[in-house]
Amino acid sequence: MITDTFHRPLKDLRISVTDRCNLRCTYCMPKEIFGADYPFLPKSELLDFDEIERLVRIFAAFGVTKIRITGGEPLLRPGLPRLLDRIRAINGIEDIALTTNGLLLPKYAEDLKSAGLHRVTVSLDSLDDERFGRINGLGVGVEPVLKGIDAAAKAGIKVKINMVVQKGVNDQDIVPMAQYFKETDHILRFIEFMDVGNTNGWKMDRVVTKREIIDMIGKTMPLEPVQNEYGEVASRYRYIGTNKEIGIVSSVSDAFCSTCTRARLSANGSFYTCLFASEGTDLRTHLRSGISDEELSAIIAAVWNNRDNRYSEIRNENTGEGGKKPKIEMSYIGG
Ligand code: GTP
Ligand code: 5AD
Ligand code: SF4
Ligand code: SF4
Repeated sequence: MITDTFHRPLKDLRISVTDRCNLRCTYCMPKEIFGADYPFLPKSELLDFDEIERLVRIFAAFGVTKIRITGGEPLLRPGLPRLLDRIRAINGIEDIALTTNGLLLPKYAEDLKSAGLHRVTVSLDSLDDERFGRINGLGVGVEPVLKGIDAAAKAGIKVKINMVVQKGVNDQDIVPMAQYFKETDHILRFIEFMDVGNTNGWKMDRVVTKREIIDMIGKTMPLEPVQNEYGEVASRYRYIGTNKEIGIVSSVSDAFCSTCTRARLSANGSFYTCLFASEGTDLRTHLRSGISDEELSAIIAAVWNNRDNRYSEIRNENTGEGGKKPKIEMSYIGG
């Protein structure tokens, strides 16, 4: 096990396998910026499966037990089930999850299950076609996502739903989403709109806080808190008198940096110690230079030992006008 300067262990690795996506959500890859001429990474700059597998082995030796595959949209990466199959064989890896927009799940759910995927989280911000189409930038309706969710559930993969909430954009969907998913086996998580990347036009007055979300839902469906496990991102709540839960990711109103055990690997092979980092450590160049596992391990350990990130806790100092450092884009690092 290794720990950082705040004694936080390294337990989770989030791996982005592509910077491309088949949607253009306004808060993540606004289409005005991520247009036809956007310079996406060429294949040669992505880590290949051998390189990813090698890194996961090294991270697992440091105590990582949880792997989350992200993007962009990870199901756009050709052959993804083969990668999962290789990751699950690594000693120490107990949990493999995937965060996706769901559109390609009807095509891949069975293969993903066979390859050892335990859990999938599907992003869905509204049950209203118009609003969802506007948020995803391409006018895609709700039905294809619901079909993806069903395909995953049918294949035997556990499903969670992520809804990014923005005031004045989809806050009217909070209660209908809660009602809809209360009747399913899937856990719905509400996510406070975050200032990730540099292009999503984040403003504090667009954020609906955890407290506000609980109050809105609680008016008709009362909730009680559920004890969280160490390092969990979402605060858990249960509908009173049931065992049905929801989660709220309150990075803005109630930060959870003090128990943050997450490392991130970008699609082009840089190692980041925070979602809001400006700079990563380029592991790809090392991997391609013929470095030994011992040397790679020493580099990774040194970075984690020196880690002092707590961006969400000090957000206000950072996000004021002026003196801002550019942050890594969400599509490179996958949330
Ligand atoms: P579980 O393993 O099911 O708990 O999933 P998760 O919540 O860790 O992962 P998911 O990809 O579903 O992320 C949910 C939301 O939390 C997304 O909006 C992420 O960007 C955000 N998130 C995940 N990890 C962190 C983190 O370390 N810091 C911040 N600020 N946000 C995070
Ligand atoms: N704020 C909060 N969540 C975001 N996500 C993407 N961009 C943002 C943002 N600006 C979510 C996606 C996905 C998860 C990985 O992160 O909707 O569910
Ligand atoms: Fe694509 Fe997910 Fe970003 Fe939307 S939030 S643009 S689906 S990567
Ligand atoms: Fe971890 Fe950075 Fe998120 Fe804080 S802001 S929880 S340190 S990733």
